[in-house]
Amino acid sequence: MTPLLKLDGACAGYGQSQILWDVCLNAPAGGVTALIGRNGVGKTTLLRTIMGAQPLTGGQMMFDGQDVSRMPSHQRARAGIGYVPQGRHIFPHLTVEENLAAGLSAAAGRGGGKVPDHVFDMFPKLAQIRRRKGGFLSGGEQQQLAIGRALAGMPRLLLLDEPTEGVQPNVVQQIEAALQRVRRELGVTIVIVEQYLDFAWSFADNYWVMQRGRIIRQGSTRAESAADVASLVSI
Ligand SMILES: Nc1ncnc2c1ncn2[C@@H]1O[C@H](COP(=O)(O)OP(=O)(O)O)[C@@H](O)[C@H]1O
Ligand SMILES: [Mg+2]
Repeated sequence: MTPLLKLDGACAGYGQSQILWDVCLNAPAGGVTALIGRNGVGKTTLLRTIMGAQPLTGGQMMFDGQDVSRMPSHQRARAGIGYVPQGRHIFPHLTVEENLAAGLSAAAGRGGGKVPDHVFDMFPKLAQIRRRKGGFLSGGEQQQLAIGRALAGMPRLLLLDEPTEGVQPNVVQQIEAALQRVRRELGVTIVIVEQYLDFAWSFADNYWVMQRGRIIRQGSTRAESAADVASLVSI
């Protein structure tokens, strides 16, 4: 499969402190790519760099065959890169409906300026609680809302940063089922940061392991078992 996203020698960091070193990574179109690694190795920084929230200080990023290395964040969103940040970043004083509407600007008019029906179809809970304020939601509800908000932007690539963090096990299953539909029915390419290896393995096709800001190993989740990489990821 051709990569929808391709990083080549990507470097980034915060001020003087370089965090990402020469990161090369491909995400095949229509596939699910898991980015794994211990706490603090740079997974969130890498997703923020892909989104354009952190500048590339070296290397290149291609999206759909186009060099977007210097494209600002809002343009990347409009080009089809959706982002579900770690910790979810829901607006606590806005309702579920208003939080979802906040995701619409990335769609740039595609989808007719309203939250697409498939968001409520895939996350029926959001329809039930549409007038509730973000601050009153459980961890699982917030996570579903954060994914729904990203989907309102009609992304072609969805970046998910630890979507199971702080979510109860039964809700983790619902989120996985919904993400399977996002992939199959919407054809969205997914890059997921995940500490919970079983989830990463059941959902992803490929994995990339980070250590101290570098990719140290990559492979197929279909051809290898999670136990093969567990020692590189366990806390
Ligand atoms: N805003 C920031 N300013 C400075 N350093 C940061 C900032 N955010 C993260 N870091 C540092 O960057 C490194 C990687 O962090 P992060 O990308 O959050 O790792 P991960 O998501 O893998 O846990 C850590 O050493 C962290 O302390
Ligand atoms: Mg992180």
